[in-house]
Amino acid sequence: MSNLELRRTVALVGLMGAGKTSVGRRLAQELNLPFVDADTEIEAAAGQSIEEIFVCRGEAFFRDGERRVIARLLDGAPHVLATGGGAFMDASTRALLKERAITVWIKADIDILLARVARRNHRPLLKQGDKRAILEKLMAERHPVYADATFTINSGDGPPEEMVAAIMARLEDYIAGHPEAGAAAVTP
Ligand code: S3P
Repeated sequence: MSNLELRRTVALVGLMGAGKTSVGRRLAQELNLPFVDADTEIEAAAGQSIEEIFVCRGEAFFRDGERRVIARLLDGAPHVLATGGGAFMDASTRALLKERAITVWIKADIDILLARVARRNHRPLLKQGDKRAILEKLMAERHPVYADATFTINSGDGPPEEMVAAIMARLEDYIAGHPEAGAAAVTP
């Protein structure tokens, strides 16, 4: 565990398959903060899976719920938050995330994303056609917006621990320049 004490939430953004959840869990342990997955919170609030929400109520309904759930989470104590891939694309969610959280874009190339999303088949947006074509389109639309995150970490195909170490190093630098966002805890 590190000696960094964050006073702000760290929100992970990036495309489906970037590793936000697996990296986020480990990062939370390292920072001694709770881990929260926005999609899981949306499912709990709706009493339905993301897939059911998309099918029964549509994407616009999902985005409304996503906006409300993330706003509520950002009102709470600092934590590590894995956001769904579309969350940062919503202007008001993005503004809130940028105001209240340290945002980290986990950037991965198409082959890494494809390999990771192939492991499970629960993502409604990827059921609408060829996964590579969908992800390429989303990359073109979303990458310029994700680039607005506080900082970007490039994901290779190594283990999540490598990403956690890279994020920790960037967080330490960030806190050094933004003391209001955290401190290096004094060990007794
Ligand atoms: C979405 C990403 C998903 C989930 C929903 C929509 C998106 O989350 O929120 O299926 O628009 O990219 P993950 O990025 O965690 O897969």
